[in-house]
Amino acid sequence: MDEAKVFIEQMYKELDKSEADITFRLQQIENELATEGTYTHTKEELSFGAKLAWRNSNRCIGRLFWNSLNVLDEREADTEEEVFQALERHLEFASNGGRIRPTITVFRSSHPNKPDIRLWNHQLIRYAGYKENGQYIGDPHSTEFTRKCQELGWKGEGTDFDVLPFVVQIGEEAPKLREIEPSLTLQVSLRHPEFDWFRDLGLKWYGVPIISDMEMKIGGISYKAAPFNGWYMETEIGARNLADENRYNLIPKVASCMGLDTSRAATLWKDKALIELNIAVLHSFKEDGVSIVDHHTAAQQFRLFEENEERADREVTGDWTWLIPPVSPATTHIFHKEYGNAWNATNYFYQDKPY
Ligand code: ARG
Repeated sequence: MDEAKVFIEQMYKELDKSEADITFRLQQIENELATEGTYTHTKEELSFGAKLAWRNSNRCIGRLFWNSLNVLDEREADTEEEVFQALERHLEFASNGGRIRPTITVFRSSHPNKPDIRLWNHQLIRYAGYKENGQYIGDPHSTEFTRKCQELGWKGEGTDFDVLPFVVQIGEEAPKLREIEPSLTLQVSLRHPEFDWFRDLGLKWYGVPIISDMEMKIGGISYKAAPFNGWYMETEIGARNLADENRYNLIPKVASCMGLDTSRAATLWKDKALIELNIAVLHSFKEDGVSIVDHHTAAQQFRLFEENEERADREVTGDWTWLIPPVSPATTHIFHKEYGNAWNATNYFYQDKPY
């Protein structure tokens, strides 16, 4: 009730509703809590809450767009089949032929008498990872989940870019698995505006990052299945997913194709290769008409977000260690500022893996 009160008061005030509306709604919630042990958000509360949770996400540099989040209410979904179909609708709606729409699909909240719906996937679209005699194929980040999928009967082709299936679990039932239609997986082949050889590396990445393993909490209510997406910032792919040593680890390969002197760290070969990888990501996404933002533009947009919040008399909280981009951080204003990292209760949280 305490958390509901904080949320309802904040929302109704921001939306200029009356004191009478607040009092009435809080009484309703109190009654429902007493009889049901939980309460049900109105569509308006769900929509505002999901947006507010984004606005409060200290680690996100993309928060300028919090108020344009598309909220798909799928709280009626009750079977694995219904969940799969909702996930397919999410892919289609969010991908939008490349003009990516920030979107969240909300499944039913935790309820005393209903089993939780859980998505086992970390992101709805993600590449499998296999470890074979000390060598990795695909995305090492996915190895544990990939093994689970295999135990459930899934078999990947064994390429570096096998799209993993949806895995949905309801309550204590055995998890169910559904292959994703290739036509629903927007993917971009990577090439470089100047280096013709780059295409032959055979790299690609998917267009829409849809985090599906976090818990959304709004006014004390827990939504354990609420996959959400924005669009990518190029560094996420070019400076981390494809570059990290414990991910695709492509810096040495790119450097060698560039003909760089890799015998000494001081030639800055890693930095040079990293930049070209990021250029290739931006170039390819742009050419294919798939939404993406570079880290300089994203930082400018974050500055606008800070100014908007200031005008609305709200404090911007942030996690500096996450907000700064991993490429040329000190070229952005974020690097030269400090942010308070207190967490507002309406937010997206990590939760224990269901497997
Ligand atoms: N960093 C994650 C990845 O590379 C995605 C996190 C969400 N990113 C976003 N732009 N909404 O897959």
